[in-house]
Amino acid sequence: MKNIGIVTSGGDAPGMNAAIRAVVRVAHSKDLKVTGFKKGWHGLIRNDCMVLTPRSVSGIIQHGGTILHTSRCPEFNTEEGVEKGCESLASNNIDGLVVIGGDGSFRAALELGNKSGVPMIGIPATIDNDVFGTDETIGFDTAVNTAVQQIDKIRDTAVSHDRIFVVEVMGRKRGFLASTVGITVGAEIILVPEVEFIAENVFEIIRENAEKGKKSGIIVAAEGIGDTHQLTKDIRENTGLETRLSILGYAQRGGNPTARSRLLASLFGNRSVELLFEGQGNKAVVFQNGSVKSIDIKDSCEGEKRLDLSLIRLAEILAK
Ligand code: F6P
Repeated sequence: MKNIGIVTSGGDAPGMNAAIRAVVRVAHSKDLKVTGFKKGWHGLIRNDCMVLTPRSVSGIIQHGGTILHTSRCPEFNTEEGVEKGCESLASNNIDGLVVIGGDGSFRAALELGNKSGVPMIGIPATIDNDVFGTDETIGFDTAVNTAVQQIDKIRDTAVSHDRIFVVEVMGRKRGFLASTVGITVGAEIILVPEVEFIAENVFEIIRENAEKGKKSGIIVAAEGIGDTHQLTKDIRENTGLETRLSILGYAQRGGNPTARSRLLASLFGNRSVELLFEGQGNKAVVFQNGSVKSIDIKDSCEGEKRLDLSLIRLAEILAK
């Protein structure tokens, strides 16, 4: 093992830079060279890369985004795209590749590893926290904190105006972000794709709260539940209460990573290099019950992470 490649792929997540920094510096401590591919899988398709040194990753641990840039790259889902990726790995003498991204990036890494024979290590990084096998992904804690700060502010307006706010958070098709954000802002209602949502129940909770004197409320809705514009309109029409929609959007993906996201990224970066150094490949580094472990990247791709529904039930009790 002499030369490690590194790529960030899919949606950016706060802490990706901290992971790049850790990979580069741990690799350097073992006399390994690191080559960074730019703009996700596009960098492998176009052979667009640069050498990363301990100095070139200085001053980045505190920044969101990724210095390597990233992309969604449908071209890499084709045989031709993967073939070009294999050529780039060979022409740069890459003996192991660290892939920082979500489950889509892991699937692509698996394919590239199988075709090229180059060992792959996946580092889970996405604000959605939807990667199977890890309790937490890089960026999740930051996104939760960003959303909580925003919703605390929205709460001021909700209370002052006796308004109901539907706040849409990201999370793709899953409710990990919504459930954690919902419970930590004291949301009156949390809506996630994993639980069938019955509009009449939502109206009923809001009406009951209003009868008890609670005329404002926050509904945290995962983007995966469907049309939140329609939901907002329906709540207004069925409860008679002033109702507004606030979509938090991409602000959740940016910003300085929290200490927790930076720490997780540093631990994952370190373990990735150690695994490659030990001659292991096709693994994903994961965080399970408080420690960093590794599992087969294939198992991570094939598994489906379950949402802990007890969080939603607890939120209901706490919102009474
Ligand atoms: O996976 C991260 C995420 O921000 C999701 O929460 C969201 O659904 C999606 O990416 C948006 O993707 P894009 O940046 O391609 O619009």
